[in-house]
Amino acid sequence: MERDVILREVGLRDGLQMVKSQFPTDAKKQWISAAVAAGMPEIEVCSFVPPHVVPQFSDHAEVVAHARTLADLTVSALVPNAKGAERGFQLGVDKLNFVLSASETHNQKNVRCSTEQSLERFEQVMEVKRSNPDYAKTSVGGGVSTALGCTMEGAIAPSRVMWLIEEYLKRGADEVGIADTVGYANPAQVKAVFQEAIRNFGDDTTIVAHFHDTRGLGLANALAALDAGCRVFDASLAGLGGCPFAPLATGNVVMEDLVFMLEAMGMRTGIDLDALVAIRDLLTTNLPDEPLHGMIAKASVPKGFVPASAALAAE
Ligand code: COA
Ligand code: ZN
Repeated sequence: MERDVILREVGLRDGLQMVKSQFPTDAKKQWISAAVAAGMPEIEVCSFVPPHVVPQFSDHAEVVAHARTLADLTVSALVPNAKGAERGFQLGVDKLNFVLSASETHNQKNVRCSTEQSLERFEQVMEVKRSNPDYAKTSVGGGVSTALGCTMEGAIAPSRVMWLIEEYLKRGADEVGIADTVGYANPAQVKAVFQEAIRNFGDDTTIVAHFHDTRGLGLANALAALDAGCRVFDASLAGLGGCPFAPLATGNVVMEDLVFMLEAMGMRTGIDLDALVAIRDLLTTNLPDEPLHGMIAKASVPKGFVPASAALAAE
């Protein structure tokens, strides 16, 4: 399927890591299947972290095994260290997303080491990958969290983000991500940082955008990154999610609204909006206390709306 933009569902990871109650394993599997049926090309299905840190992902083996049965899906998972990566390689995920933070303080809180030490851990992940030929098929991405601001440190210098991307690439990252983990960014800032990253690294490397809607600028920031040339975006169904270090934070950019914006602008996502919106029922049933975000689910699409994916497929 031709797509102008690749969207990655992160609700099962970024969203569910914040949810106190255990989301039933069967419902996770249904969510993944339904998202793939709606056309979702990539899903971050869990994190490989100790169960005492995030109990939500203790069912990761069953969830990954299910996701791997689905055709045309890139199955990804988040890892903070080599131990988690080893698990991911063994389970045969298609992609591991390594996490570190541009903010030293956030890195310490989140993964209990310095940002430099996290780079060493990334190196260890790549060593594990090289240690077994079976692991070669799993790609490894490097994410820079709190790249556009931090609740504890405030502003983050763009030069630090560029440096971290460079360090990742030196160590063999297959792609890199820039994340506004706590929803501090504004579109002008996003445009400048993504333009610089794409100018410096974009010829050979995919740059992924990850925005949170904490201050209502999620879609505006996605548009700014799109204008800068970014073509891969994380988002979550119903904007599920938050951040343990950002009180009152809402979740990721709402996937349904992002699909609507892109399709209305003539960019093919390959995702069927009605089928996507229908998956929200799974969240209503299984997370009755969790607020669900999103305007398209409330207001529906404009009269006569023809998504780019449908219009171009019909030609
Ligand atoms: N998966 C499973 N177990 C792991 C693990 C992983 N990725 N990493 C470490 N462990 C185990 C160790 O084997 C050790 O077990 P033991 O007590 O039985 O010997 C124990 O966990 C502690 O290991 P240690 O290396 O000392 O970890 P830590 O306590 O310093 O924690 C992290 C470091 C990175 C594992 C932890 O901070 C973490 O998981 N952070 C991620 C948090 C997160 O998901 N944030 C949101 C996403 S951005
Ligand atoms: Zn996030």
